[in-house]
Amino acid sequence: MQPSRRKLSLSSSQLAAMKPRKNSNLSIFAVVFSVFLFGFFMYNEDVKSIAEFSFSRPKTEELKEQSKKQSSPVLNPLQTDASVDSRTQMNSEESETDESVNHKTIATTKEDEEQSNQNVEQEENDDDDVELPPEECDLYNGKWVFDNTSYPLYKEDECEFLTSQVTCLRNGRKDSVFQNWRWQPRDCSLPEFKAKLLLEKLRGKRLMFVGDSLNRNQWESMVCLVQSAVPPARKSLEKIGSLAIFKIHDYNTTVEFYWAPFLVESNSDDPRMHSILNRIIMPESINKHGENWKDVDYLVFNTYIWWMNTFTMKVLRGSFDEGSTEYDELERPVVYGRVLNTWMKWVEENVNPNRTMVFFSSMSPLHIKSLDWNNPEGIKCAKETMPVLNMATPLEVGTDRRLFYIAMNVTQTIKVPVHFLNITALSEYRKDAHTSVYTIRQGKMLTAEQQADPATYADCIHWCLPGLPDTWNEFIYTRIISGS
Ligand SMILES: *[C@@H]1O[C@H](CO)[C@@H](O)[C@H](O)[C@H]1NC(C)=O
Ligand SMILES: *[C@@H]1O[C@H](CO)[C@@H](O)[C@H](O)[C@H]1NC(C)=O
Ligand SMILES: *[C@@H]1O[C@H](CO)[C@@H](O)[C@H](O)[C@H]1NC(C)=O
Ligand SMILES: *[C@@H]1O[C@H](CO)[C@@H](O)[C@H](O)[C@H]1NC(C)=O
Ligand SMILES: *[C@@H]1O[C@H](CO)[C@@H](O)[C@H](O)[C@H]1NC(C)=O
Repeated sequence: MQPSRRKLSLSSSQLAAMKPRKNSNLSIFAVVFSVFLFGFFMYNEDVKSIAEFSFSRPKTEELKEQSKKQSSPVLNPLQTDASVDSRTQMNSEESETDESVNHKTIATTKEDEEQSNQNVEQEENDDDDVELPPEECDLYNGKWVFDNTSYPLYKEDECEFLTSQVTCLRNGRKDSVFQNWRWQPRDCSLPEFKAKLLLEKLRGKRLMFVGDSLNRNQWESMVCLVQSAVPPARKSLEKIGSLAIFKIHDYNTTVEFYWAPFLVESNSDDPRMHSILNRIIMPESINKHGENWKDVDYLVFNTYIWWMNTFTMKVLRGSFDEGSTEYDELERPVVYGRVLNTWMKWVEENVNPNRTMVFFSSMSPLHIKSLDWNNPEGIKCAKETMPVLNMATPLEVGTDRRLFYIAMNVTQTIKVPVHFLNITALSEYRKDAHTSVYTIRQGKMLTAEQQADPATYADCIHWCLPGLPDTWNEFIYTRIISGS
């Protein structure tokens, strides 16, 4: 009856030795339910990727939401139809391979350098006139408005650095209206995006995204947002270990991504071979990763999706270096709190706020159950071509808001200023913006047969580019050019 044993994923020899220690306060419900799942999927080879979003909605949050929308029935975790979709929703995350980040290095010559330096200087002047929103304006309260004159901010074909994970149009997506939505804050406006203005601020500096594949999604967006301002051959992309580094030579600027899906040390830290289903972490151990974040000028952190395939999180007893194999299973929010506490201490001890600006992204939501937005005809996010535009009633798509409040609290109590990127609610409306079946799986483009089976293959976790993550970057852009 040990839920930890239900995972038949211990096929890899390294993991076979792992000995679970069941934590005594694991709820009866989780035990019973896990046994149910085990029975249900026993003969399903996908047993490895069971995810429980739909089941694991936090009760407290539900109650809060329920009081607002009386009409909807109380969600009973056992009566949802998630047993169907839960099987596949994590697949795309699980199946990541190194192919999802392509690496290009483009050689440069001295002549190129001199010429483009001149260009840059000549064109700088028209970039000074951007109207900044007042600092106290809440950028995250607002609505999506159709705007096909300003959006998308770049074209898919114009950004050679996009990976095939996110190039939805090239991968066969027919509708493109998802690219034409602008986020309009209620009380002010986002400043017009000007790549050169941002690059001026980033001159001689490093901007680094740290976290999971959603942060990599956002990093790809940022690369495309700035790269248009730089001539060909004056930029390059290379990968070194856990780091992907986009260099803009004329500005001596880098836009980097560091793979650390839990921020702290885990058995999923290998940037190439991280499709580990039996995820185990060391919540108090961050320095190994942190060494790589020191002296970066702009840091953008996130961690969410890798927490979501099980109710509980496995916490290593001892350390990977010592070859420890025993672990405890603890409730997800408890461990998330410990991790963010570790992260907070690292930032307080290692970040000089006079030099470095720190951001923390709230959770990027999933769209797995089309009934969440009242579409009984839907198949996960696969048939969605429009955002949810009725913002009168709150939308509940299964996001674990307990983690939101932990992150919000930590970023408020931390002694170093941290910009909390409150992207969760505004992204929950964007059921139309996921990569769906227009993406890769295990490094390969989905076949026509797979594309025809969205119930199994649609990725409703990641986002097409250009698309929603461009807006997330506009929030970062606003803070960077405001210098506050
Ligand atoms: C985050 O933004 C949503 C709207 O997008 C808003 O309802 C919520 O209060 C905001 N939360 C915080 C902590 O700013
Ligand atoms: C923008 O959308 C309007 C309304 O759908 C359409 O008439 C117009 O052709 C579109 N313009 C562009 C540039 O796509
Ligand atoms: C380039 O930027 C780095 C910091 O990212 C800095 O250490 C270095 O001195 C800069 N080089 C030049 C030539 O400005
Ligand atoms: C940051 O700058 C302020 C004012 O210039 C200074 O008092 C403070 O000591 C600096 N802090 C650090 C950590 O360098
Ligand atoms: C917020 O964080 C502080 C410091 O980490 C902690 O003491 C407090 O209990 C937290 N409050 C909530 C509501 O999570």
